[in-house]
Amino acid sequence: MGVRHGGGDDLIRAALSGLVGGEHRHQVLAALLPFGVAVALGVQAVAHGQTADGCQGHFHGVGELGVLGVCGGQPPDDRRDLVIDLFLDEHQRCAMTRLNHRGTTALITGASSGLGAALARQLADRGANLVLVARRRDRLDETAEELRRAGVDVMVYDRDLARPRAGAALTEQLAADGIQVDTLVNSAGVGTHGDFATAEPDAVAAEVQLNVVSLVDLTRALLPQMLHSGRGALVNVASTSGYQPTPSMAVYGASKAFVLSFTEALAYENRHSGLRVLVVSPGPMHTEFFDVLGTTRPGVGRWQTPEQVAAHTLRALDQRSVPPSTISGTLNALPVFAARFSPRRVVSAVTAKAIGA
Ligand SMILES: NC(=O)c1ccc[n+]([C@@H]2O[C@H](COP(=O)([O-])OP(=O)(O)OC[C@H]3O[C@@H](n4cnc5c(N)ncnc54)[C@H](OP(=O)(O)O)[C@@H]3O)[C@@H](O)[C@H]2O)c1
Repeated sequence: MGVRHGGGDDLIRAALSGLVGGEHRHQVLAALLPFGVAVALGVQAVAHGQTADGCQGHFHGVGELGVLGVCGGQPPDDRRDLVIDLFLDEHQRCAMTRLNHRGTTALITGASSGLGAALARQLADRGANLVLVARRRDRLDETAEELRRAGVDVMVYDRDLARPRAGAALTEQLAADGIQVDTLVNSAGVGTHGDFATAEPDAVAAEVQLNVVSLVDLTRALLPQMLHSGRGALVNVASTSGYQPTPSMAVYGASKAFVLSFTEALAYENRHSGLRVLVVSPGPMHTEFFDVLGTTRPGVGRWQTPEQVAAHTLRALDQRSVPPSTISGTLNALPVFAARFSPRRVVSAVTAKAIGA
């Protein structure tokens, strides 16, 4: 039976739910795969599904490589990525233990917009109490009000984390207010754009202070209590820009390379603790980031919404064995993978061309 286009996400989700649902046919044939190298990396799964309106679908896919077939027909181009993402999501779900956020306290920097705000909402949905941090008090208050109505406790701290010692001052205030943090999400971040030789020195200093120094300070100050709690997670937000040199955003790319390396090292150091440590790298996201940057030119890759990236992050944290780092979106991960096997000079040149440097 083929996928009938027009069934929408509902149809695809219904078909994919067979991968884990048990009510439909579900086969994991890792040993029997005819797909060569995929054997080592993935599973084959076949699923049937039916939507509420009776539309039926049949899905046939191979795991981590994102190799995909839909029996009886291909999805149209604009559906293909969605199908792949949904398949990988469903496949991942098989290997998960949900992290229970209920009753824990999560501090989120950059919670006034974009990814930080999306993570705040999704963590609140899962019962976490929140400490929201950013500069814009009105935006924080609005989000806090909305989330309190959902039944969680929310505290708000308007702070400029690009100021020296801002991280230390915030954690001293948290201690004075008796707030114990189980989960820290460092999402606040900014970029600067243009040739470094003509960059505005104060803007560059603020970028490094926010993206690197405050992130390190907050992590250092809160890590002991998070390790003691063992009920939460450390989540640092990097970027696919952190995986290669980024001409025209040299400081930004380097700051995200720092976040990647730093967090992966912490993941290893704390591998035997209960704390889950993860660095998430989004590709381009529809947020205010590019308004602040003043251009969308460096937005290379598969655009996602902050809600998609937040959901990807929480799913990664739910895995039985949390990966130290994760890239949101299959199409954002593939170029990063390819760059690993290319000479650095070539990688710089390709990146510069792609982002129009
Ligand atoms: N958007 C993308 O394409 C993309 C791609 C890869 C990675 N990222 C990363 O994702 C993270 C979230 O960015 P986003 O896309 O969600 O952008 P966004 O919507 O602009 O959010 C940035 C957040 O950081 C806060 N922030 C900025 N400067 C601050 C400061 N000096 N002190 C305290 N908070 C500050 C902002 O709040 P206030 O202005 O209220 O302070 C805002 O809440 C960043 O680390 C960014 O580097 C973004």
